[in-house]
Amino acid sequence: MRIIETASYEEMSRLAAGIIGGQILLKPDCVLGLATGSSPIGTYERLVADCASGLLDFSRVRTVNLDEYCGLGAEHPQSYRYFMDSHLFDRVNIPKENTHLPDGIAEDPEAECRRYEALIDSLGGVDLQLLGVGHNGHIGFNEPQGDFPRYVHPVNLTESTIKANSRLFDRVEDVPTRAITMGIGTILKAERILLIAGADKRDILHRALYGEITPEVPASVLQLHRDVTVILVKG
Ligand code: GLP
Repeated sequence: MRIIETASYEEMSRLAAGIIGGQILLKPDCVLGLATGSSPIGTYERLVADCASGLLDFSRVRTVNLDEYCGLGAEHPQSYRYFMDSHLFDRVNIPKENTHLPDGIAEDPEAECRRYEALIDSLGGVDLQLLGVGHNGHIGFNEPQGDFPRYVHPVNLTESTIKANSRLFDRVEDVPTRAITMGIGTILKAERILLIAGADKRDILHRALYGEITPEVPASVLQLHRDVTVILVKG
């Protein structure tokens, strides 16, 4: 595991975009695992700029996102599909059909989870997975619990996650209580993992990276992966 500390969010974003850009240059048809939240916004800005300047070509890149809220369609401004379109996909030359998220309004969420896991496998697996981390140590929407879920699955969000994510909604009651997320097993199948985190995540990251490996701190499982880079903003 490589742990890089940066002086600012901008520097973290620049380094993260450099690693993702390097992956695209190395393998133009790579599969990127992508994340939402405040942490990756600066990284996506950089990737958009590098595409505009001609440095990066997204025309053959495929993407799979970690998670999606249940009950929010693509046109809902708080859906993760909307987030990804507006921050990245609509601003680079990636064919929209190459971009994948779980369908939050699928009639049968269990079937949707099976479809999404199979889709990731059918793309050949993820070359580079970008992750953020929740204040409770969640990755994707894998909340602290009794075990490490292996596959894409539906989850009930914890109160602390609903509260944390309510900053983006008008009212806390508007935050969906369920989501579909890649499982811990799905995430660990990625060839390489890149986790980015602001200074506010320092304590939970310390627990995750140096503490006991336990499903109570889902990100602690990353200690078991062979190729993880963590970029953390210094406090
Ligand atoms: C959400 C997402 C996670 C993300 C986390 C942290 O719950 N499902 O994938 O890592 O928020 O977000 P932020 O980067 O805004 O702190």
